[in-house]
Amino acid sequence: MPEKPDRRAALKRPRPPRRKRGASDGGGSVRYLVGRTADLKAGASIKFLMPVRGADEECFVINFRGRFHAYVNRCRHVPMAMDWVDNQFFAEEGRYLMCQTHNAYYEPGSGECIVGPPDACGKMLYRVPLEIEAGTIYARPPTEEFED
Ligand code: FES
Repeated sequence: MPEKPDRRAALKRPRPPRRKRGASDGGGSVRYLVGRTADLKAGASIKFLMPVRGADEECFVINFRGRFHAYVNRCRHVPMAMDWVDNQFFAEEGRYLMCQTHNAYYEPGSGECIVGPPDACGKMLYRVPLEIEAGTIYARPPTEEFED
């Protein structure tokens, strides 16, 4: 006599793990809570750590003229933190970002080095993708490989 199909088998199948609201886009890329837009006034910055390809990378988010941008805190001249004074990235009254080691200047909106050591000029800071939802800033690890 053939066995009866177990009608409850379908109910026993493991369910996919629940996603925490705001923790993932559903495509497998994790995003990280950085802060609240209300805490980041124009000309201000916040530093945060985020895993990038298995290692914690220091990053920073800025409010440049009302728009939010984030970059890995890694100068394109020498791969070291740009803020000799902690969390001080803006220079020239908030017009540029500056690496305080050898005074490389970067455009805040694009991350392009426009003045500084010749081997840094023209290079871009590594952009960190941001998402802003209901006044909360989330960051995703950059997908591009670091050249240095
Ligand atoms: S390390 Fe940034 S300008 Fe030299």
